[in-house]
Amino acid sequence: MTRSIIEQEVLDRVLPTDAERSAAQEMGNKLIAAVYEVAGVPAMMTGSVARGTWVRGDKDIDIFMLFPPEISREELQEKGLAAAYAVVEKFSGTAEEKYAEHPYLNAVIEGFDVDLVPCYHVSSTAEMQCAVDRTPFHTRYLLPKIGNLREDVLLLKQFAKGGGVYGSDHMTGGFSGYLCELLVLAYGGFSEFMQAASEFRYGEVVDIEKYYADTKIARGKFSEPLIVIDPTDKDRNVAAALTPTRFAEFMELARDYCASPSPQYFVADPPTQMGMNEFAATLQKRGTAMLAVRMKTPPYVADTVVPQLRKTMESMKAMLVAEDFQIHRAEVSMGAENSLILFELLIARLPEIVVRSGPPVWNHENADRFVEKYLMQEQFAGPWIEEDRYYTEVLRKYTTAESLLSDKSKILSGSLGKHVRQVMEEDGYEVLAGVDVWSLEFSFFLSAFFARSSHAIRKLREIRGGQE
Ligand code: CTP
Ligand code: MG
Repeated sequence: MTRSIIEQEVLDRVLPTDAERSAAQEMGNKLIAAVYEVAGVPAMMTGSVARGTWVRGDKDIDIFMLFPPEISREELQEKGLAAAYAVVEKFSGTAEEKYAEHPYLNAVIEGFDVDLVPCYHVSSTAEMQCAVDRTPFHTRYLLPKIGNLREDVLLLKQFAKGGGVYGSDHMTGGFSGYLCELLVLAYGGFSEFMQAASEFRYGEVVDIEKYYADTKIARGKFSEPLIVIDPTDKDRNVAAALTPTRFAEFMELARDYCASPSPQYFVADPPTQMGMNEFAATLQKRGTAMLAVRMKTPPYVADTVVPQLRKTMESMKAMLVAEDFQIHRAEVSMGAENSLILFELLIARLPEIVVRSGPPVWNHENADRFVEKYLMQEQFAGPWIEEDRYYTEVLRKYTTAESLLSDKSKILSGSLGKHVRQVMEEDGYEVLAGVDVWSLEFSFFLSAFFARSSHAIRKLREIRGGQE
């Protein structure tokens, strides 16, 4: 297959060398042997390293330890962790426990980043007992098929990385490695897929194994923007984590790249940072009001915490809007120490008065009660009648957005993420306003917040800027 110069240059960067390939394979085999030795169960290497489809430098080896399906979930966790620790010890590596559906070990062994994951040794995906049981099937399916398409997979992965849409974690909501491999397989190559993707529509269906008689049936079952039926499990959409935003951003990138290819599309934008003075100047220029709620980051993985932060943000947003504080934009950030929920408001201070609407005049009982309540409160105007209802002016409870966010009992009465609520209850939280919102920990996040534009737009700016 002929490659463009651009693509060939990318491959020179991202294609693992034969030496790296065999080193990873050898390490994998040693780990598999070690698992059998310490736990008496078979293991297999999964993920991109097993399939030779990893981007050079990202050599994370996934070892799945296959336990008999008869043992209980507790036993799987216990034996799994014990086996993983024993393997790490055997190689004098270091390890850290991580939690997904159940605990697993993330280790560094002889310079490799190794995940040791226990799962059930089932003979088909129909017998799966937990989500990770599916992973070995991915490798078994792809291994014999992907050999000739490795370069194409790497081009797509690097393109997605360059565009900021690689990763199925909650913060990214983009393309997983397995998804990239299936897309390349389905379309027969990187260029073929890019052409197709630039003309994608919402609700695109890719069904390699033709499990569904027509795309309408698949579309009725899955509601996501891109539906890629898992060849190893027809009830799963491999692209379930891809958000509508990332899907559309990818289409924009693909369209631009096909129209005018540039190496820039394969280079990730370096994150930019914003100092306190720059932050203050930006606030001045925008004329908006910045507010933030800062709390300790709960001790869980990002895929647990980020959705909780978003849920908490939505609850706070609804409260602010209900009290007439119009929100321009809001975003969350999970740092290693603290997490931030950021609000940019069109207005942060409101007058003392607010109009309260009362019952319809013809609803005598409630109308009387309303009138009685406000009869002797002559602070402001009202009650008056407008069309069929009573209205009156009353004193506003929160004249600043800050006072609302600082009202702990009100904020905690909202529907917040579980662990986020826990830290807010136990350790409290801070409400920051204006320049105080800035801190070194969030200087990258704040910069990205203000620089917001789609990935392809950024690429076009870089390319045009480079030509001047
Ligand atoms: N996996 C999955 N769904 C996810 C994440 C992972 O099914 N959301 C499975 C896939 O089979 C994947 C394997 O777990 O191949 C390993 O996950 P990961 O290392 O995240 O992906 P890779 O495919 O190895 O890609 P990368 O090169 O980015 O490591
Ligand atoms: Mg991997």
